Amino acid sequence: MIEIVTYPDPVLKRKAELVENIDGDIQDLIDNMSKLMYQSSGIGLAANQVGVEKRVIIFDINYKEKGKDLTVLINPTIILAEDRIIFEEGCLSVPDFQGKITRKKYIKAQGMDRNGKSIDIEAEGLTAICIQHEIDHLNGTLILDHVSHLKRNMYKRKIAKRMKRSNNGKTKLL
Ligand code: NI
Repeated sequence: MIEIVTYPDPVLKRKAELVENIDGDIQDLIDNMSKLMYQSSGIGLAANQVGVEKRVIIFDINYKEKGKDLTVLINPTIILAEDRIIFEEGCLSVPDFQGKITRKKYIKAQGMDRNGKSIDIEAEGLTAICIQHEIDHLNGTLILDHVSHLKRNMYKRKIAKRMKRSNNGKTKLL
């Protein structure tokens, strides 16, 4: 089973690759990502958040009715973006962190669905935010990269301390 990779795992900082073939592996990936996203009460997930460096994102802002409004976008690109919106975002890969982030309010995105069919999506508000957030992931960008140095460094220190603590817990002194 796959699991969510969290900061500071380097896979989150790398650019994911274009999907050339929508094969069985990609279908399995999409199924596993969907399960995990709903289990985690997330509204979006990018493939590199589960350690797979492929340009696949999924999202469903109506996650309470699981699967009903699931959208899969393979090789997504944003072709138009207008106006600004500020929203407090969190991320499954950046636990215990929220930040007010400025995004585009309206976007048009293109990509392929899981059958390889081209799709165009016009989105606004939360859906638009979510698509931008997930495409950011594919490009190695986290919400931490959108906030001030001060806020980012505070989080980095918190995580470093936590890792040191849990590491110490595992060490047996003989
Ligand atoms: Ni995220």
